[in-house]
Amino acid sequence: MAVHRPLLAIAVFCGLVGLAAQVGVPAVARWAIDAATDGRGGDLRTFVIALAGLAVARALCGGTYRHLLFKLSLRLDTELRMILYRHLTRLSFSFYDRTTSGDVISRANTDIRSIQILFAFAPVAGMAMLTFFLAFALMLTIHVPLTFVALATLPVATVLGNRYRNTFLPLSWIIQGRSAEVATIVDENVNGTRVVKSFAAERAEIAKLARSARRLQWASATSVDVRARYNPLLEALPRVAMGLVLLYGGWLAIDGQVSIGTLFAFNAYVIMLQLPFRMAGFLVMQSQRAAASAERIFQVLDTTPEITESPGARTLDRAEGRLEFDDVMFGYADGRARRGVLDGFSCRIEPGETVALVGPTGCGKSTVARLAARFYDATAGTVRLDGVDVRSLEVASLRRNIAVAFDEPFLFSVSLRDNIAFGRPEASLGDVMRAARAAQIHETIAALPEGYDTISGERGYTLSGGQRQRIALARALLMDPSVLILDDAVSAVDMGVEEAIGAALREERAGRTTLIIAHRLSTISLADRVVFTEGGAVVATGTHAELMATEPRYVQVLADAEARADAGGSH
Ligand SMILES: Nc1ncnc2c1ncn2[C@@H]1O[C@H](COP(=O)(O)OP(=O)(O)OP(=O)(O)O)[C@@H](O)[C@H]1O
Ligand SMILES: [Mg+2]
Repeated sequence: MAVHRPLLAIAVFCGLVGLAAQVGVPAVARWAIDAATDGRGGDLRTFVIALAGLAVARALCGGTYRHLLFKLSLRLDTELRMILYRHLTRLSFSFYDRTTSGDVISRANTDIRSIQILFAFAPVAGMAMLTFFLAFALMLTIHVPLTFVALATLPVATVLGNRYRNTFLPLSWIIQGRSAEVATIVDENVNGTRVVKSFAAERAEIAKLARSARRLQWASATSVDVRARYNPLLEALPRVAMGLVLLYGGWLAIDGQVSIGTLFAFNAYVIMLQLPFRMAGFLVMQSQRAAASAERIFQVLDTTPEITESPGARTLDRAEGRLEFDDVMFGYADGRARRGVLDGFSCRIEPGETVALVGPTGCGKSTVARLAARFYDATAGTVRLDGVDVRSLEVASLRRNIAVAFDEPFLFSVSLRDNIAFGRPEASLGDVMRAARAAQIHETIAALPEGYDTISGERGYTLSGGQRQRIALARALLMDPSVLILDDAVSAVDMGVEEAIGAALREERAGRTTLIIAHRLSTISLADRVVFTEGGAVVATGTHAELMATEPRYVQVLADAEARADAGGSH
């Protein structure tokens, strides 16, 4: 922020000059009127020039002041956004487990904006306060009793203003909350439109939206009512003040106690008093809003990333690929309690080995994959890569060595080439194609009119579930990781294609450790060895045939998975 000081100083200087010019106008006008009316009939040209000069100074300085202030506040806005965004990217998976994207977006937009408005507005209001006191002081030098008559309505305005704020502010919070509610319904209906349509739930959804919109409408209408009640009153008060000044001042003028010029200048100051006063009210309101917003932003900034680089972390260029889980305990932080998922999970996968991890659904297979890539840290026990605790490895180098392909991959709204090259943006098209070939998606991409330049993602070309999985697989393969983890990553791929993928993996994996998490027999058969897990620990390990012969639960789990697949789900 310190870099903005010179600009801020210039802004404040311009503001002060503009202020002096503003307050000077009535004083000059007073002299002019008095000069013209006292019968001596002096030369008015000087006054005209002075007034014009003041007007130009006020316009130029006032303009510069506002321009600089807004520029500064927008810079601040950008800086805040960058700080928040940088922090968001550092936060761990566990933060995103607890937070909805709508909440993060509202913090990044509405809350930062309300702070920005305060920063843009506070100096303007501060300057206005100065105007207030300056005008007040000048009024006192002109006529003390008249000054207090002019201020007679201020206590009323204060009380009314406070009441207005106390009614309006809670309403504005309600409106904000209900707009978010409406926005969420619209957002969910756009994103979940396929679900809504396939269950013919449009009517119910429209009714839900209408209910929510009516609640918003009620809050908005009430706030309009409040404004309609208070605003005319608040606007009428200055006019009452002016009336009082003209009444008392006029009487004084007739009596010869003050001149017409004085009365004119006085009236101008009374008008000048009003705006700062209204601004003070707005400033109080905006400060309260900004304080609440700042708190919401600090809540995010105060969240410490759980996965942090340990001091003196080791960089791993190319791991051999020995992956070990040693008596690992883990549970997700669900609210306050940690529910156990892994409970003494131990297994060791040798470099170059292909192992299938099999277990009933929800038993913690994906969790094992997440711990290997250090998306979460084990609560007890150790995960090691090449014999080194993953917590003492540099996170980026660990994730270069362990690539995970998920079952529901996320595609960005960029070209398919860039989607595949996400982890290695500098990869050549040849490398991208080689990865795509291994993942059996090259032919599909090549057949598209725009080939690898086809934009995928939300508004782009819609790929099928199996095609998306293969893009994600290509993305992981392009990293040429020492350890490749396929977490249900080919569950939506046809079995024939899966076989081809298996062959390609075998061919290109030379020395790569592969962990396959799967329910389907066809996928499991790609592995040399099966690790069967249940209840958070490894129950048995061996070849598929061995486990089929010795582990009735293994047979059962595979049969269950097959039954589920036949029933329609992929698992
Ligand atoms: N981010 C999370 N936060 C809280 N609980 C979670 C989270 N992810 C998974 N769980 C819970 O942890 C348990 C293990 O989940 P996990 O995804 O590892 O199972 P899985 O074996 O991969 O299941 P599936 O075969 O269905 O993919 C489940 O009970 C699940 O509800
Ligand atoms: Mg899973």
